[in-house]
Amino acid sequence: MKTKASALTDIEKSTLLQGTDFMYTAGVPRLGVPRLSMADGPHGLRKQIGGGDNGVSKSEPATAFPTAACVASSWNPENAERIGHAIGEECRCYGVHMLLGPGVNIKRNPLCGRNFEYYSEDPLLAGSFGAAFVRGVRSQGVGACVKHFALNNQENFRFMGNSVVDDRTMREIYLKPFEITVKDGEPAAVMSSYNRINGTFSSENRRLLTDILRGEWGFRGIVMSDWGGTYDRVAGVRAGEDLEMPGDTAVSLKKLYDALQDGTLPRADADAAIDRILSVTDEYTATERIPRLDSAAHSALAAEVAADSAVLMKNDGTLPLSGDEPLCVVGALFSDMRYQGSGSSMISPTEVITHKDAFDRRGVKYEYARGYSAGTSPEEGDPIAEAVALAGKYDTVLLYIGLTDLSESEGGDREHMRLPEEQLRLAYALIATGRRIVVVLSGGSPVELPFAGGVSAILNMYLPGQCGGEAGARLLFGEVSPSGKLAETWYKKYSDIPYGDEYSKRINELYKESIFVGYRYALTAGVSPAFPFGFGLSYTEFEYKNISVRQTDGGAVTVSFTLRNSGKRPGAEVVQLYVKNNKNSAVFKPERELRAFSKVYLEAEEEREVSLGFSVRDLSFWNTGKDGWTLENGEYTIALGASSEDIRLTVSLTVTEGVTATSPYPDNINEKMKRAEPIDDETFSALLGTPLPNEPPVLPLTMESRFCDFQKTFMGRILYNAVCGVAKRQLKKAKKLPAGPERDNRIKGAIF
Ligand code: BGC
Repeated sequence: MKTKASALTDIEKSTLLQGTDFMYTAGVPRLGVPRLSMADGPHGLRKQIGGGDNGVSKSEPATAFPTAACVASSWNPENAERIGHAIGEECRCYGVHMLLGPGVNIKRNPLCGRNFEYYSEDPLLAGSFGAAFVRGVRSQGVGACVKHFALNNQENFRFMGNSVVDDRTMREIYLKPFEITVKDGEPAAVMSSYNRINGTFSSENRRLLTDILRGEWGFRGIVMSDWGGTYDRVAGVRAGEDLEMPGDTAVSLKKLYDALQDGTLPRADADAAIDRILSVTDEYTATERIPRLDSAAHSALAAEVAADSAVLMKNDGTLPLSGDEPLCVVGALFSDMRYQGSGSSMISPTEVITHKDAFDRRGVKYEYARGYSAGTSPEEGDPIAEAVALAGKYDTVLLYIGLTDLSESEGGDREHMRLPEEQLRLAYALIATGRRIVVVLSGGSPVELPFAGGVSAILNMYLPGQCGGEAGARLLFGEVSPSGKLAETWYKKYSDIPYGDEYSKRINELYKESIFVGYRYALTAGVSPAFPFGFGLSYTEFEYKNISVRQTDGGAVTVSFTLRNSGKRPGAEVVQLYVKNNKNSAVFKPERELRAFSKVYLEAEEEREVSLGFSVRDLSFWNTGKDGWTLENGEYTIALGASSEDIRLTVSLTVTEGVTATSPYPDNINEKMKRAEPIDDETFSALLGTPLPNEPPVLPLTMESRFCDFQKTFMGRILYNAVCGVAKRQLKKAKKLPAGPERDNRIKGAIF
């Protein structure tokens, strides 16, 4: 390292501990230390033009790759690595040293407004994608900043929420994807989350930032705050939070300087933080810029990955379409394609290939009816009647529906899990025509699909990035066989989700379901989802045979079997290895858990021997009685499947490397939790080992009040109306722009 903390004055140190100009570190001009420049992610580069903000103003054109929710459904982390590589190139072209992504938070509840930016409900899947993405970005000499560390699983109350969680759940579910990303990806930075964890803000959480992240996982980069996510800055530095973003806060600067003078901030803590900032700056500002980009190649990659990720959720044989028959196409999302979400991740795409564009390029013959409004203004006339009249003329109707821009965004959680009312009425009206309905679905998160039984096929595109239309057409017309599988559980109805009625309603968010998140809950509680975790159909078929298992002394387990594409088309199968925990376990455990996976691409009738591996240590549980991982001896079942519920082959595994464990839980709690039964607050408190926190009063307003609560006081209302007035004016202006991505982005920005 060229410059060390010891060479800096106290004022230079205090200055360097916070950012400047929204997306930069301050540098040390006197010593020639440059500024490190950052830009959002995660699924593309958002290099803002002029001053920065979180998602409103313009940004340079960049490739809008498929969102994390989409890419994860490919179950191929190489896709994330290739996207990371391409985004790294775009960063180099625009002189960005560090990308603010990936986001590896667990999808605890489908209503979280930011789920589209996250990969999965499963820690192994989320962590594997996070690590691969980081490796891709890093391969270009660009730093990646993994976020939001940790337990940031909702958007309501995002600046002041308190995630109340027991240690075991935190370790096994919520910290795990970060652990994998840090160890296997080596990101340059970690962004702490806005929320508190059991009462302590992440940005001041020494156990999280120093003991676990650095001490246990060996992280060597910098920890930075989320934008505006610092509270007591001196406590933050002491806890291991190096950099405050976006910075430029005179209050923090003075506090840090004073604390250095009076010794309340130990020099060793400040210097360690400074040295880390200097070392990351050294490393990533040295990367040379590249003069130009191959945008066409990046678009091609975006299309390829979107096609590899889309999930065929139902098919009675109607798909693939021949491409020759004339089609009826219904739904505004056909031309107003949804391809990304709203908020700080929003990108100005280099191009957009909508579903309509892809059909027109192929010369597909179709007639079109809008059916509903995708935007902010209601449709004129009776769009449903028009669509039904058109459908009557055709055998096959393609219905493009999904969550609209208005229904999911950073900054707020969805209020329900339904599609917009108008779209539901349209779907039922079309089903009533008796025509074959093929649904093409968009959106960053699961929705209830109560009409699924009445349609012929459902192709779920998620938010597929700027070339989503091209990907959709390849799949519909059978140029590529669908091979995505769900990286999250699609429940039949929101009320099936554990503690769904309590989610995101209060500052204190109680993680009462403990480790039973997603399929862990569905399988253990015996709730049958509409579409299970790991599920997805193909145009071809796969046969699994000849399973065997090998164990080495070091605890490495290798499971081998033969996979055969027994159909007539090339295709890919996502093979999932779950481990079912032994019935005699001392502690409650999920019915089975994902421990390895592999995506295998096979020609028609090709067969291949496939091996998947894991370590027996991966089967350990976090033992709250010992504050460490415990591996239980005994019999386990390895289950190879095409989904979490479609197990094709099993083999047993005897573990002898561990111990005979004893339960740290009272018997009644352990027994209840073994069945993933609902628990009351009192039982949760016993599980937690501490009393539950009280909900703070709404008034008086404090630095931690929610913005909407400002309406409750006279002065607060004035401020509230002033801020909302600005947004309303932006919205009005945006609506006057000509139709296109620029208008869409401006509208989304204003709403965000
Ligand atoms: C978001 C981060 C983002 C940052 C900078 C915050 O509001 O939570 O994900 O990277 O803004 O735009």
